[in-house]
Amino acid sequence: MRVLVTGGAGYIGSVVAAQLVAAGHEVTVLDDLSTGFAGAVPPGATFVKGTLRDCAAEVLSDGIEAVLHFAAKSLVGESVADPAKYWSNNLGGTLALLDAMREMRIRTIIFSSTAAVYGEPERTPVEETDPTRPTSPYGASKLAVDTALTEFCRLYGFGAVSLRYFNVAGAQQAADGTWLGERHNPETHLIPNVLAAVTEGRRVQIFGDDYPTPDGTCIRDYIHVTDLADAHLRALGACRPGQHSVYNLGNGAGFSVREVIEVCREVTGRDIATDVTGRRAGDPAVLVASSAKIQSDLGWRASRDLRAMAADAWQFTQARGHSLAGGSGGSSPRGMPSRGGLGGSSPRASSERAGQQR
Ligand SMILES: NC(=O)c1ccc[n+]([C@@H]2O[C@H](COP(=O)([O-])OP(=O)(O)OC[C@H]3O[C@@H](n4cnc5c(N)ncnc54)[C@H](O)[C@@H]3O)[C@@H](O)[C@H]2O)c1
Repeated sequence: MRVLVTGGAGYIGSVVAAQLVAAGHEVTVLDDLSTGFAGAVPPGATFVKGTLRDCAAEVLSDGIEAVLHFAAKSLVGESVADPAKYWSNNLGGTLALLDAMREMRIRTIIFSSTAAVYGEPERTPVEETDPTRPTSPYGASKLAVDTALTEFCRLYGFGAVSLRYFNVAGAQQAADGTWLGERHNPETHLIPNVLAAVTEGRRVQIFGDDYPTPDGTCIRDYIHVTDLADAHLRALGACRPGQHSVYNLGNGAGFSVREVIEVCREVTGRDIATDVTGRRAGDPAVLVASSAKIQSDLGWRASRDLRAMAADAWQFTQARGHSLAGGSGGSSPRGMPSRGGLGGSSPRASSERAGQQR
């Protein structure tokens, strides 16, 4: 199948693009490199640099049959400080994409939704039917896209799947040996931050150890990015015209902050010093997904444990050969081999190598 991966130069999109290529799909990545890296586009995928708004229509017209839509801004704090950016990019950009799809009669889409649509849930594990009360413009913009998808399915015959990720972690090796992993800036996720602290010899801050959990620290649900990618491939095969399905993605168990640090200690073989500071406002004690629905509908199961997530993320961190504090956007990852951002087998590789927009 010819598929478009928006945001395929980012963390999750690059891993899913790599799996799609491995599964024999023809993959085009559209990414504006605002937080992504050209060097993360996996070998065998065609790369087009551009925004959803400016380039979606042109890219779709190239025989695309389905879209996997990862492109978004996803920093909760930034969204509170600059909500317009989030509404414009996440909702506005997606509406431009959906309109272009409608024009071209491309109706299959898998969307990266998020646990942030639930806000502070009343209970865990969180089920898909639980109330959606986002507490940030980021979560609200994602929920608005979910709502738009329901409408596009009902009115225009789209077949859509929204996957609501909780915490994604780990890394995956592309076919050429390059590690694809997390390098957000700023990095807000626990595992890469703990590993960065290890490489930089810093102490790790724990925000509160007086929660009603076994060791007093917050519990979150993590899944390996490779398991997440597997869910996307299953979802792609499950899109039905007129139907919008929503699935949570987590492992259903959850790990405490201290458990995560302990596993990082094991995989790195280094001591990790910690400081306990006060709780952060709005941090629920436990946030865990029920993935029962996707297990029963699509047969998906998380198969990689926390140790695999930390070990693969550590491989990625070491492959980068430096801290995760690198700048965002545009350049190849420092300390990692660059492919010039371009799938060697892509027929359009030479024009993209020159950085042309399409
Ligand atoms: N990482 C997580 O734990 C997590 C959890 C829940 C949901 N999500 C969602 O998953 C998706 C991918 O997250 P990620 O962690 O890989 O983020 P990321 O920032 O690494 O990747 C996003 C990519 O989209 C690109 N992009 C952003 N806006 C664009 C636009 N208008 N046009 C073209 N490209 C654009 C960026 O350059 C980047 O490469 C996002 O939609 C995010 O909201 C992520």
